[in-house]
Amino acid sequence: MNILGIDTSCDDTAAAVVRDGRLILANIVRSQLRTHAQYGGVVPEVASRAHLGDIASVVDEALAAAGLALADLDAIGVTRGPGLSGALMVGVSFAKGLAMARDLPLLPVNHLEGHVYSNWLIPPGMEEQPEPRFPVLVLIVSGGHTELLLMHEHCRYERLGGTRDDAAGEAFDKVARRLGLGFPGGPAIQRTAEGFQGTLPRLPRAWLRGTYDFSFSGLKTAVWQLLQEQGGLEHADLTGIAASFQDSVVDVLATKVLAAAQEFGAATVAICGGVAANAALRARVTSDLLVPVYVPPLSLCMDNGAMIAAAAYYRWQHPEEAADDGDPLLAEVEPGLALEAIGHRAGSRK
Ligand code: KG4
Ligand code: ZN
Repeated sequence: MNILGIDTSCDDTAAAVVRDGRLILANIVRSQLRTHAQYGGVVPEVASRAHLGDIASVVDEALAAAGLALADLDAIGVTRGPGLSGALMVGVSFAKGLAMARDLPLLPVNHLEGHVYSNWLIPPGMEEQPEPRFPVLVLIVSGGHTELLLMHEHCRYERLGGTRDDAAGEAFDKVARRLGLGFPGGPAIQRTAEGFQGTLPRLPRAWLRGTYDFSFSGLKTAVWQLLQEQGGLEHADLTGIAASFQDSVVDVLATKVLAAAQEFGAATVAICGGVAANAALRARVTSDLLVPVYVPPLSLCMDNGAMIAAAAYYRWQHPEEAADDGDPLLAEVEPGLALEAIGHRAGSRK
C-alpha cells in the first residue's frame, strides 16, 4: 500500500511516499529555516505563504523521486494538527483536493502520532530492523511538545506525563536565543556545548517527584541568572552555560524515561521529535537502558512527510482504534489537537 504523507504543520513543507508503513520510497522536506532565521523564530503568516508556494512542487518531487504516478497511490495522509492553523490549512486543503480529484481515501493524522511512527520507518540505506515490541515507552520531544506515553498496541496510548510549561525544544530555542547562539536553538546549543571541558556550572533540575511530568521554565530562569552572575553576554562562559543547560535537560528526560521503562515493564523505548536529534540525549538514553532503544536518524527526527504516511498506514490498519470523526473530506484543521485525540482510548495516569 503506497501512501502519500503530507506535513505543513510548522516551517517545513514536507511530502513523502511510504510503502506499507515502513519503506520510504521518497521523503522530500523543503525547509523554510533561512526565511525564518532572520526573525529569530517561525512567523506563522510567512510560513503559510511559503507552504502555499511550495506544496504542489514538493508533492510532485516526492512522486518523481519514488518513481510513481498519482495512479500508483492508495491513500493520502495529512497532518490536521497540532500546529500553526494557516500552515496546516495549506496541507489539508491540498490533500483534500487531491483525494477528491483522484478518488483516494484521505487519512487525517495527528502530528504527534506521526513522530511516534517515525520509529517504525526503515531508515534510508539501513537494513530492515524489527518493529518496536509492545509495550513501547515513547518520549516525544519536539519544539511544541514533551510527552511521555505508554503505547500498548498500535494506535493505543496511555499518557504518563508531559511538560507543565515549555516544551524541551522550546527551552532549547529560548535559551539559545538569549545566549545569542541563533535559531533553531537545539543544534546551536549542542554545537556550542561540544566545545566544553571542565566542571559544569551548576543549574537546577525540576524533578517533580512522583510524577512523569516535566518543567523547563525554572531552568530557563536559572540560565538567565547564571548569565547575569557571569557578567552578561560579553563576559560569560557561554560554552559552559550551554553545556550545563543541555546536561540538565538530558538528565531529567533520561532519568524519567529510565524510571518509566522499569515501572511499566516496557519491552522497547522509542524517542522521537526534533530534540531526539540531540547527541547527548541519544547517547545517554541508549547507554542507560537495558531494553532496545529506537531513535530515528536525524532526518526522521525533524518534521517530515514519511512519518505522517507511516502513522496514516497504521491508522488504516487499525480502524477499531479510530474515533468517529465523520467524513475525512470534511475534516477541519485542528491547531490545538491534543495528544489524547491520538486515539480515543488514550487515558491519563493522574
Ligand atoms: O519535531 P520538530 O522538527 O518540530 C516540531 O514539531 O516542533 O522539532 C523542532 C525542535 C526545535 O525546538 C529544535 O531546536 C529542536 O527540535 N532540535 C534540537 C536539536 N535539533 C533540533 N534540540 C536539541 N538538540 C538538537 N540537536
Ligand atoms: Zn514535529
